[in-house]
Amino acid sequence: MELFKDWGIDENPFKTSPLEPNEDGTKLLIGRTDEIEMFNANLFNTPSLVTVEGPNGVGKTSLINVALYKCYENYYKWYKEEDEKNEKERKRKRLFIPCYRNFQIDPSKKIEDFIDEVLTEIAQTLLKRAKDLEDLGFEIPDDSTSIDKWLNSPMISSFQATLGPVGMGFTEAINSSKGFEKSGFRHKIKNWLQEIFPAKPGGGVVCTIDNLEIIGTSDSAKKNIEELRDSLFNISGIRWVLCGASGIVGNIASSARLKGFLHDPIEIKEVNTHCARSIYHSRIKYCSHNDSFYIPLSEKAFIVLFNRLSHNIRDTFKYASDFCMYTYYKMSDRKWKRESEKDICFEEWFDMRAIQQHKK
Ligand SMILES: Nc1ncnc2c1ncn2[C@@H]1O[C@H](COP(=O)(O)OP(=O)(O)OP(=O)(O)O)[C@@H](O)[C@H]1O
Ligand SMILES: [Mg+2]
Repeated sequence: MELFKDWGIDENPFKTSPLEPNEDGTKLLIGRTDEIEMFNANLFNTPSLVTVEGPNGVGKTSLINVALYKCYENYYKWYKEEDEKNEKERKRKRLFIPCYRNFQIDPSKKIEDFIDEVLTEIAQTLLKRAKDLEDLGFEIPDDSTSIDKWLNSPMISSFQATLGPVGMGFTEAINSSKGFEKSGFRHKIKNWLQEIFPAKPGGGVVCTIDNLEIIGTSDSAKKNIEELRDSLFNISGIRWVLCGASGIVGNIASSARLKGFLHDPIEIKEVNTHCARSIYHSRIKYCSHNDSFYIPLSEKAFIVLFNRLSHNIRDTFKYASDFCMYTYYKMSDRKWKRESEKDICFEEWFDMRAIQQHKK
């Protein structure tokens, strides 16, 4: 009972998860050329924290992920294309590596655990990129093998897996594990970053703290962010992007401790209808590997949703998936024969959803 596979499509083309910092994310991001340029200008030209804000579901996280991946990829390509490399030239260019995971402030989590979580992910990112870094002429410290063995040992992995409200704090795991005291672990990662990114302000692993709207409702979340100023935001070799709903950057910047640390926010606005059409087609193309597939939602219906949902792409995808599900269970042979029938069915569903919403 895999509806999209039954229709000749590999997976749901309307998945609501953000685009990832990889090749596929780059292919699927539509538009946003100006925003990426602005993002790079902020990242490359000042040491401040880059900030991004905009309405829900417009594509903030996707934009950051793809922009960072492109920075990394461009550096790699540039390095590989140049024949003669000299040290001076390399120091002039800056390498930014997107951290493999984005972070969120959890007011119930101890700040010390958050710091360890971030440093762990940075170490994992560097380990995963170790081969690339060597290709790019960076020296991988001898320590990396021991960090790798330790971080990826079954014991630590199981501690990481239990992180969360019911799990043991990661700090305790680090403290109680053989060979690495907490301070030793932090020290090693900081040294490693220093070796790879010695220049100031230089490149770095770029970490994103996402969904910062939590600080609007939680004083302890805001306090946590402030505390990071002197514990994480000041480590050389790590750059920061803060992201959240419209207005959130002003809220953080109003804190005396963070004044002057933040860039003015890059405002992400809704994409236009032309982009939405391209998003519809590129998603379907990406998920279907030949022309013999069926999709019950027409481009026209997709745009109706997009407009009705105030250009929120995430919500548009959610409703597009809901409609696909609805038609799948409604159709006896699982297919509509003609294009016009798709839209009739969509209108029926749309009216029904609108009535249900109204009743709530
Ligand atoms: N420019 C784009 N091109 C193609 N798809 C996009 C684009 N921007 C966003 N999307 C898609 O829209 C959905 C929402 O994107 P994303 O999660 O990045 O938005 P967001 O603004 O971070 O949302 P939230 O407010 O929930 O954090 C995702 O499925 C993503 O893949
Ligand atoms: Mg987001």
